[in-house]
Amino acid sequence: MSQVCRVACTTLLALTVVHVQVSCGHKERTTTAGPVMDNTQEPCDVPPDPAKLNSFLWTIKRNPPSYLFGTIHVPYTQVWDFIPNNTKSAFEQTDYVFFELDLTDPYTLSALASCQLLPQGENLANVLPEGLYTRLKRHLEYVRDMMPGWMTRDQRDKGLYADYLFNAIAGNWERKRPVWVMLMVNTLTEGDVRSRGIPVLDLHLAQEAERLGKLTGAVERVEEQCLPLNDLNFSQVVFALNQTLVQHEVRRDSRRDQTSFTTADLIRHYNCGDLNAVMLTSNTRQVPYLVNTSMDPDEVVTARRIDDYFQQELIDKRNERMAVRVNALLKKFPDKSFFFAFGAGHFLGENTVVDRLQRLGVEARTHGSDGSHPTNT
Ligand SMILES: *[C@@H]1O[C@H](CO)[C@@H](O)[C@H](O)[C@H]1NC(C)=O
Ligand SMILES: *[C@@H]1O[C@H](CO)[C@@H](O)[C@H](O)[C@H]1NC(C)=O
Ligand SMILES: *[C@@H]1O[C@H](CO)[C@@H](O)[C@H](O)[C@H]1NC(C)=O
Ligand SMILES: *[C@@H]1O[C@H](CO)[C@@H](O)[C@H](O)[C@H]1NC(C)=O
Repeated sequence: MSQVCRVACTTLLALTVVHVQVSCGHKERTTTAGPVMDNTQEPCDVPPDPAKLNSFLWTIKRNPPSYLFGTIHVPYTQVWDFIPNNTKSAFEQTDYVFFELDLTDPYTLSALASCQLLPQGENLANVLPEGLYTRLKRHLEYVRDMMPGWMTRDQRDKGLYADYLFNAIAGNWERKRPVWVMLMVNTLTEGDVRSRGIPVLDLHLAQEAERLGKLTGAVERVEEQCLPLNDLNFSQVVFALNQTLVQHEVRRDSRRDQTSFTTADLIRHYNCGDLNAVMLTSNTRQVPYLVNTSMDPDEVVTARRIDDYFQQELIDKRNERMAVRVNALLKKFPDKSFFFAFGAGHFLGENTVVDRLQRLGVEARTHGSDGSHPTNT
């Protein structure tokens, strides 16, 4: 069977993550985990009590009810079967589906791409310290060489080629701001490369919403996600990029693919409904935590300051903004039902989007996932 695939590049969210999506001429819907990344099917640590499986759903009390759902940026096929029926039916029943950003709007994607670029006329070679630039270039050459071997047969069968994929993710890297190059480097690992081609969960929900003819929207603007990253000061960016490169160089030299392990772990936590705040928040922020135990004390101070900055800019401030906008939408359309799908990290830790909504007088509660419809419980 010859399939001509249309390959679209979608840059998501706070994401550098150029997500390459392959949609084929005839649409096939996979609901089981494919051959890509099959190391994620480990059992939960806790016995699989159905009420404990993924339960990132909150019901907002009103008539008809509305919902908040915590998503994750991993291929949806790895998590879809673990999302309880009550969540899926809540999604199907609502009129409006809102995301952080409108991922189906071409403007979102072009705005994200241009936000990541250095000012006109600047180039990484002139911006970064020479040694760091050379190491970066060497690392990207290594990735380019490894890419064909990293890709799966399934990806090749879908018409995804290593050169194409490398360019989709890293093309034009010399024109990108260092902070975005840092995030890009983090996605250039074997595990991440092998999972390209399948929509991540939030994108899948956006496509489903479109397919079902729902009205969709976004509570944030691209600039609100992008500019805080660009505002990290230069010495901090150099530090973060250097640390990121150090980690990848160590991994490269020891031929370990640490990321595929962490991604598998993350998926397991999500599927098991295990609210691992650090992992899920890191996935939501799209910026990994820098602090690590083998750093010098002064490096730890710098790393912690950067971690705190991102926590504040990419989680805390956005939780507040999202809560205010969700509240405004609920008020504006009192007889519509909404399904709000935001990164799971916005629902974990302190002052979550739910906490903030409650402070605004919106009653929202979570519940198990025993398959009963939340409105009946
Ligand atoms: C960047 O921020 C850090 C921490 O706030 C500060 O110590 C440093 O002086 C700043 N550097 C520049 C170049 O602004
Ligand atoms: C990068 O980090 C390493 C290890 O912490 C450090 O020894 C080195 O001086 C740093 N290089 C730059 C350019 O900051
Ligand atoms: C932690 O940082 C040190 C120094 O920058 C680096 O050598 C080491 O590989 C890092 N460890 C991990 C697990 O990333
Ligand atoms: C969810 O619904 C499907 C199809 O109706 C059913 O096969 C499955 O057992 C249900 N799962 C749970 C956990 O109730």
